Amino acid sequence: MSILVTGGCGFIGSHTVVELQQAGEDVVVVDNLDNSTKAALDKVEEITGRPVKFYEKDIRDREGLEEIFTKEPEISGCIHFAGKKAVGESVRLPWEYYDNNIHGTLVLLDVMRKHGVKNLIFSSSSTVYGNPDAVPVTEESPKKPCTNPYGSTKSMQETILTDIQAADPEWNIVLLRYFNPIGAHKSGKIGEDPNGIPNNLMPYITQVAVGKLEKLHVFGNDYPTPDGTGVRDYIHVVDLAKGHVKALKKFDENGGLYIYNLGTGRGYSVLEIVENFEKATGVKIPYQIDPRRPGDIAANYADASKAERELGWKAENGILEMCADSWRWQQMNPDGYGR
Ligand code: NAD
Ligand code: WQD
Repeated sequence: MSILVTGGCGFIGSHTVVELQQAGEDVVVVDNLDNSTKAALDKVEEITGRPVKFYEKDIRDREGLEEIFTKEPEISGCIHFAGKKAVGESVRLPWEYYDNNIHGTLVLLDVMRKHGVKNLIFSSSSTVYGNPDAVPVTEESPKKPCTNPYGSTKSMQETILTDIQAADPEWNIVLLRYFNPIGAHKSGKIGEDPNGIPNNLMPYITQVAVGKLEKLHVFGNDYPTPDGTGVRDYIHVVDLAKGHVKALKKFDENGGLYIYNLGTGRGYSVLEIVENFEKATGVKIPYQIDPRRPGDIAANYADASKAERELGWKAENGILEMCADSWRWQQMNPDGYGR
């Protein structure tokens, strides 16, 4: 038995491959290296001491996927990370986002069912809750319209997967709604490697800390939150990765659709993140307050108790560890993987 990991060279995928291998699973990775490098898997192999089978292919390439399933008949399920994820870029390039994320997922599902593989864990996002009426959000909180094409692809992929599972109840489909993944593997060998100027808060902060960027721009301090800055549920990427290993147990069911929030249940404001980063690392982060970023919401954090009850999963790392581990990765690899 082995697990096909799409997008396994990326930030969350690479950390998940480590946890899967350390839990004794055999892994096959497919990635088109659109937003990553094979070097990430070399580092994974250094960490685990086990080889990873790798196919450099695009999940929209049907023949390419057919070849993988034919050569690797022991694949029994898939963890599907592959997709484009930059919110701002998706507003400029909606076709590319719908094509990559939706079309890619449709081809993957079709090839999987043809090979009788009907177990899938999908990377969804807290973005499907839109601007929530109340926090924390539970899995029953209503899905709301997304403010960008990226978010819409996640919401639509959830709908597609839900409909496919309803029509063919042999499928086991797990939708994991991630909150804000940060941190890096404790070894400092793998971590987040954004292209160009980071869009997300933590990689921006670590690049300020390492001297690549001058100061942090805090997007708005007039939100209805305790200090006026945006509140999010940051989760250590290794905890997130472990959530996928726990979710594998759903592949043993006789078909079903399962939805879990993966977060810590605790929200931190932008200024609290700056404070905790300084505390964890001893590095001062200069910042200035800028206007709000279009499309941002005031606050979102998870009720993650369902994952604890049903999967036995709970985030273990606190905010200081997340900051320290992000910083270790950035310090050891100032240019990421040097793409
Ligand atoms: P990432 O960009 O680091 O990883 C995605 C990987 O998929 C990359 O290695 C990329 O090269 C690959 N890929 C993209 N399109 C592909 C295709 N057509 N065929 C094959 N490979 C392809 O992103 P990540 O942060 O690791 O995110 C992984 C998944 O989790 C994504 O689906 C993302 O939308 C979702 N997610 C991420 C976050 C986050 O904040 N990082 C939050 C919620 C959900
Ligand atoms: C966090 C907070 C910003 C950068 C995005 C996607 C979401 C999910 C995770 C994939 C907010 C503030 C940020 C900066 C700042 N990804 N900020 N200065 O927007 O919560 O979520 O990534 O699914 O779908 O939307 O994360 O890290 O960009 O922002 O002040 O330079 O930090 O306003 O309050 P976000 P983020």
